[in-house]
Amino acid sequence: MTVSFDSAHRQWVAHRETALDYRVSILDQLRVSRDVETPSRVFAVVDSIVYVRKRAAIDDFLQELGVPHRVLSLDSGEDAKGLPTVDRIWRELDAWEMGTTGVLIAIGGGALLDTAGFAASLYLGGLRWWRMPTTLNALTDAGVAPEVQINFANGKNRLRAKHPASETFLHLPFLQGLPKSQFRQGAAELLKVAIVRDSLLFDLLGTEWPVVLSEEFQGTTPRGFRAAHSIIELAISGMLDELTREPFPSRINFGHTLSPPWEMPITDERPLRHGDAVNLDMAMSVILATQRGYLTPDQRDLIFQVMRWLGLPLWHKLLTFPGALDAGLHNAVLERGGALWLTVPAGIGSATHINDCDSSELRAAEQELHALANSGP
Ligand SMILES: NC(=O)c1ccc[n+]([C@@H]2O[C@H](COP(=O)([O-])OP(=O)(O)OC[C@H]3O[C@@H](n4cnc5c(N)ncnc54)[C@H](O)[C@@H]3O)[C@@H](O)[C@H]2O)c1
Repeated sequence: MTVSFDSAHRQWVAHRETALDYRVSILDQLRVSRDVETPSRVFAVVDSIVYVRKRAAIDDFLQELGVPHRVLSLDSGEDAKGLPTVDRIWRELDAWEMGTTGVLIAIGGGALLDTAGFAASLYLGGLRWWRMPTTLNALTDAGVAPEVQINFANGKNRLRAKHPASETFLHLPFLQGLPKSQFRQGAAELLKVAIVRDSLLFDLLGTEWPVVLSEEFQGTTPRGFRAAHSIIELAISGMLDELTREPFPSRINFGHTLSPPWEMPITDERPLRHGDAVNLDMAMSVILATQRGYLTPDQRDLIFQVMRWLGLPLWHKLLTFPGALDAGLHNAVLERGGALWLTVPAGIGSATHINDCDSSELRAAEQELHALANSGP
């Protein structure tokens, strides 16, 4: 930190570079390695579904840390990702006199990790925390990102903090028994990384998805093992490389420009799940990219073929609801310094941004998307 005084303007300027240090480790056994500093106490916030399914393993893990611990099991999901849940966590931390030498451990899907991480970011000025993702989305995206985000006043992820978990432990057995629909949600985020920066990952998803899905990423055959580990390693390397770059815009925002309002109750229609919303945004962006000559029609069709292969939706009637597309435009411009920064693919494995897209171009893109989605196999 440097402080300088400008006597002419009677002004101090304080400056410090913000460090961003965190570690993501794959754990075959649910046990912390020796080089992780043992905390004085542990407050674990665990997704209630995960706690029912994996209680013995989680309790053993906490017990083995050898320090006082407490478990708060919480119902999770998009509806619970807000201030009331954060308030509940703060009150429990306070009642247990957590202090600043302990560690909060969050175990669950992306919504639980975001909520617990957000609570940690503000408690006593920022509590150290670790996380263990338990869905495919959380393992490769939400659970490795530096930002923690919660919903506020019908705004998706409107409250945010940059407070990465100092340690992230990826334990693939958590995925055993995860509903297939939830794997699909994670597939959208994998495809996002593949399209904008990694054609090898794109090819892997396009060939190996049925194997890794049927084996639930557990690698029970040599082929499934290689594919699961390659997909996860490529996706996380790509995510971390993009996420830790400054400044905005990042290519990794692909699929996250128009879609945030579609995950909130903005129409009578049931809000979309995260991966489905992201994929619809990506499909719209693919149409726009093709219209502007960044993708050939063959590349567009190949991307749509892989989306279908992964079980992802190409179109949804919510896109036709009055205001749904405009809400996406408005929200992005509001949150991104007055410009849209819509990421669109430029070939497969590369991307660019467009800022001059308006409602009428979006509506035309939606109609073309609808026609193409109906014409596919
Ligand atoms: N912070 C970030 O940068 C970032 C990035 C991407 C996504 N996200 C957020 O992640 C959230 C989506 O996360 P998600 O897809 O993991 O969904 P989720 O956390 O909402 O979980 C979906 C459901 O699966 C259950 N679940 C979790 N683990 C399970 C397991 N192992 N077995 C069975 N059920 C399990 C949960 O209880 C929940 O009911 C969204 O809120 C999104 O905004 C955040």
